Amino acid sequence: SAMAEERALAMVTCTAPVNIAVIKYWGKRDNDLILPINSSLSVTLHQDQLKTTTTAAASRDFAEDRLWLNGEEADVGHPRLQACLREVRRLARKRRGGSAEDTAPLSLSYKIHVATENNFPTAAGLASSAAGYACLVSALARLYGVEGELSEVARRGSGSACRSMLGGFVQWQRGERPDGRDSLAHQVAPETHWPELRVLVLVVSGEKKQVGSTAGMQTSVDTSPLLKHRAEVVVPERLALMARHIRERDFEGFGQLTMRDSNQFHATCLDTFPPIFYLTDLSRHIIALAHRFNAHHGRTKVAYTFDAGPNAVIFTLADTVAEFVEVVRCSFPPAANGDQFVRGLPVGSASLPEELLAAVVTE
Ligand code: DP6
Repeated sequence: SAMAEERALAMVTCTAPVNIAVIKYWGKRDNDLILPINSSLSVTLHQDQLKTTTTAAASRDFAEDRLWLNGEEADVGHPRLQACLREVRRLARKRRGGSAEDTAPLSLSYKIHVATENNFPTAAGLASSAAGYACLVSALARLYGVEGELSEVARRGSGSACRSMLGGFVQWQRGERPDGRDSLAHQVAPETHWPELRVLVLVVSGEKKQVGSTAGMQTSVDTSPLLKHRAEVVVPERLALMARHIRERDFEGFGQLTMRDSNQFHATCLDTFPPIFYLTDLSRHIIALAHRFNAHHGRTKVAYTFDAGPNAVIFTLADTVAEFVEVVRCSFPPAANGDQFVRGLPVGSASLPEELLAAVVTE
C-alpha cells in the first residue's frame, strides 16, 4: 500500500454558534473534567448574526503553539485549551492506530497556530466561551481528521460549550460516570422544528462580569442549599416539562418555564454566601417590563432569561418582535443609548396602541 505522505502545513476554518440555556447549568461535581451537578437545556442561535470563526493550522515550520483572540495574541497555555488539544490529539491517535489504511493527514507532533474571532462585540457579554470552545474543538478535529462525538471534548473547554456543538434544541446530559464519558450533549429537536422562534439580546452593560461563571458556581456549590435542592429535585422535573413544551411548540409553557428557571438560577446566586449579584436595576426593569407586556396581552408573549451577567435574552415569536422592540425603544429611548440602537435582522415598524403604552411603558 502507498505510504502516506506527510504534509508540511494543514489549515482549516470552522464557525460555531452561541447557545442560550433555558434550563441553566450551574455547579460542577468535577472541576477538572467539567462534570455538572445537573443536566441543562439550551437553544442554539442561528449563525447569521452571532458566531465564532476559528482557523487552526499545523505546520512543521511552527516553532511553538500560538493563539490569537480577536486579533490579539493570548496565552496558549490555558489548562482548558490544553485539555481540548490533548483530547483531540488522543482521539486522532486512537483513530490512526485503529485503521490499517492510515491516511495520516499530518503529524500530531507539529506545533499549531489558532486564530479565533467573534462577529459580535465581546462586550455584548454573550456566552462567547461556549461558541469559542465549540469552534476550537471543531477546527482541531477537522485538522486532525477526527469525527464523531465531540461534545465530550468541547465540555473540557467550557461546560456550556458542549451544547454549541449541535444546532436546534440541545440537552446536556449530566451523566453518572466519574470519568465523564456519558456527560454529553444531544439534540432534543432540530433547528427546523420551531421556525417562528426569535431571540432579542438586550445589552444592559458591556462591562466584564465581576464574578466569572467558573468561580461563581464553585462558591454556589459550596454554600447554597437552594442550589442542591434545585439540582436534585427541581431540574429533573423541569427538563422533562421543557422538552415537552418544545416538542409541542407551546410558547406559553416554554416561556414561563424559561423565566422561572432564570429566576431560580439568580435566586441560587443570592443564596450563595457571600452572595453573587449578576442582575442590575436595569435587568430588573426589563423583567418587570416583560411581565407588564405579557399581562397586557393576557398571555406569555415574551420570555426573558439572564446568564452570569446583566444582559437580557428575550425569546419571542416572529409576530411579536416589531411590537416588543417598539416597547423597548419607548422604555429605553435610543437618544440615551447611542445611535446604533438595533442591529441584526431587520425589524418591522409597529405603532403602539394607547392602552398598551399606558399599561406597559410606565417609565
Ligand atoms: C449561567 O459554561 O461558562 O451561562 O463550565 O466553568 O466554563 P464553565 O462555565 P460556563 O457556565 C455557563 C453558566 C450559565 C448557564 C448555562 O449556560 O447553562
